[in-house]
Amino acid sequence: MTLSKSHVIAVTNQKGGVGKTTTAMNLACALARGGRRVLAIDSDPHGNLTQGFGVPIHTLPVTLKDLITDRAVDTERAIVGTSSRVDLIGSNPLLAQAARWMVTQTNAELRLKQRIAELRGRYDVIVVDSCPGLGALLNSTLNAADRLIIPVDPGFYGYMGIQELRNEVEEIRAGTNPDLSILGVVLTLSERTVIARETLDALVGQFGDLVFKTQIRRCVALRESPAVGQSVFSYAPRSNGAEDYADLAIEVIQRLRPTAERSVEGVAHA
Ligand SMILES: Nc1ncnc2c1ncn2[C@@H]1O[C@H](COP(=O)(O)OP(=O)(O)OP(=O)(O)O)[C@@H](O)[C@H]1O
Ligand SMILES: [Mg+2]
Repeated sequence: MTLSKSHVIAVTNQKGGVGKTTTAMNLACALARGGRRVLAIDSDPHGNLTQGFGVPIHTLPVTLKDLITDRAVDTERAIVGTSSRVDLIGSNPLLAQAARWMVTQTNAELRLKQRIAELRGRYDVIVVDSCPGLGALLNSTLNAADRLIIPVDPGFYGYMGIQELRNEVEEIRAGTNPDLSILGVVLTLSERTVIARETLDALVGQFGDLVFKTQIRRCVALRESPAVGQSVFSYAPRSNGAEDYADLAIEVIQRLRPTAERSVEGVAHA
């Protein structure tokens, strides 16, 4: 399946610990395994995505912070290759300085969008991992993105927090990024419990078809793999986690393809 243009997908939810980084990393790797040219961008000062790819955060010469705060820095210099065939723009705690700096500058939340515009021709998919919370970094990410994937973990709070995020998305759409839209909502850390079932039902009630059919099951390999700097595909290729993120990537590609292209293919395969 081909993609006719480059897509910038932000994985976002202001609630912490819902599987944003796990999803950004393994979705990026699944897409790269499928032959897509993929760039991952770590927009969290904790640098979890960077570390997950096995890249040490404190020795990075150029990070996302530099790209945001210093126009003189060449975008190219921030890109590092990883063993997963995914290119990476990494971050470390210095990104927190950029977040503080951005609130003092005019339109600094558009800097990431400008940097990404330079890279669109080179990648099929650019996946941005967001930090938890609302603020300048989220703003910057929402301005840079075309589509959002919202991971939600089972439970009342995760579900409630999405309304705040939706309000934020509406603000950005009404202002600086009218084309922003939700690609999908994915249930993460899923298990066979009443609360997981109820969360899924509530998500379907609110988002309908935007809820991905794929659920990411709770899986030990997904918890362990970042510690050794690997995706779940190289760490535990036969795990539920590898299966679930491969399935999610298929759904993502299907949703990214233009409707006309999909219906032509549907007829061809009928
Ligand atoms: N499906 C899963 N099964 C088991 N553990 C998981 C799964 N998804 C994520 N985890 C683990 O849960 C924790 C939180 O996941 P992750 O770091 O991806 O969330 P996050 O939303 O990025 O968090 P933060 O908001 O702090 O950035 C991590 O320890 C991760 O390894
Ligand atoms: Mg994270």
